[in-house]
Amino acid sequence: MQPLSRPVFAAVVLAGLVLLMGLNSVLKRDVSQKSYEMFTEMVYSVAGESMTANAAMPGGQTMQPLVEGVVPVGAEIFRYGSGSEEALRAGRELANPVAPDDSGVAKAGAELYRIYCLPCHDLKGDGLGPVVQRGMARPPSLHADRAKGMADGEMFHILTRGQNNMVSYAAQLSPRERWAVIRHVRNLQNQDD
Ligand code: HEC
Repeated sequence: MQPLSRPVFAAVVLAGLVLLMGLNSVLKRDVSQKSYEMFTEMVYSVAGESMTANAAMPGGQTMQPLVEGVVPVGAEIFRYGSGSEEALRAGRELANPVAPDDSGVAKAGAELYRIYCLPCHDLKGDGLGPVVQRGMARPPSLHADRAKGMADGEMFHILTRGQNNMVSYAAQLSPRERWAVIRHVRNLQNQDD
């Protein structure tokens, strides 16, 4: 076969390029449009509404009950019920993880105490906070024998489960923050001696 002459070769290459560009613009895919789909069963599964009946699931219900004993990540596990018996048990079994000489945590505890406890227990813990001065029942002094004698774990139980008129502070204070507040209460009590 004769090799192509230069001008013919150039013309062929040019024609090829023009053809490619033409094809490109004719066949150009509009990415905003769906392309043709075949066999979509595996692409689009049937989405079950979580609250409605679903024949494909055990019990005919999309939302399945939690497996027994399951615990959300980061959840607090506090194995004590309400009441003084359980508070005493917590007092026997739980220890404050905050070391007495951890001044950083005690400082954080003091700040939390001012925010969450001062309104009733007042700055020093005598139980004459601004809320009490406006008519709320006066809490017992945190310097009384009972508060001084109770174990850290019992106080933790009171902060976690509440005690009579005092509600639980578990929603406002994380377990670590509760222990820090208790450390601060101990520091307040220690100023008595
Ligand atoms: C809205 C007012 C209020 C706030 C805020 C409050 N307390 Fe109390 N607290 C009380 C009352 C009232 C009692 C007494 C409950 C009872 O009758 O047993 C009490 C009881 C206690 C007791 C038990 C005392 C005892 O001798 O039995 C401790 C310990 C205690 N509070 C610590 C705290 C700490 C720490 C905070 C902050 C996290 C706090 N409280 C926030 C009102 C409050």
